[in-house]
Amino acid sequence: VRLGIMASGTGSNFVALCDAVSDRTLSAEIAVLIYNNPGALVAERAKERNVPAVLLDHRQYKPREELDRAIVAELQRRNVEWVVMAGWMRIVTPLLIEAFRDRALNIHPSLLPSFKGAHAVENALDAGVKITGCTVHYVREQVDSGPIVMQAAVPVLPDDTRDTLHARIQAQEYRILPQAIALAVHRSRSGS
Ligand code: GRF
Repeated sequence: VRLGIMASGTGSNFVALCDAVSDRTLSAEIAVLIYNNPGALVAERAKERNVPAVLLDHRQYKPREELDRAIVAELQRRNVEWVVMAGWMRIVTPLLIEAFRDRALNIHPSLLPSFKGAHAVENALDAGVKITGCTVHYVREQVDSGPIVMQAAVPVLPDDTRDTLHARIQAQEYRILPQAIALAVHRSRSGS
């Protein structure tokens, strides 16, 4: 399967996906990385791995649909079949969702439907939950909604800070994201 990855920042999930592809635990090709922040570390990581990295800076596209139109054009030009949002910190519009209906996945650092939004790790800490985790789900119009493909749970420990908790969650993200992609692609190919 030809994947297009969308990411905004550090790109540790992007790296985990590249590793899964190169060690063949995920049977896929990464056709392109799309990123929206100039200087994002993820772009360096793509270059090191010879993955084409395309900057589409949301500040240059107004309204929101225009950014998504540019993203879809880039993905289609590269014959991308499935889109993976791995730390994509922009709200996507129906334009992108429709173009990749049931072929777009997102990873979110909580056990959805709890703690939607951009501050999921902090919100879980503040709520005092003792278990949180991460979720891979299909992208739908409502942010951080859409059918769930896979989840992993992690404990919240008494001395956790946002960073220690996020690190524990991310270790699980790296594990389940490649698995969830494989599962979702397999299901769609077998029609189940
Ligand atoms: C991940 O925790 C992901 O769940 C969230 O943003 C973070 C991205 O991290 N949406 P990275 O850029 O993959 O390191």
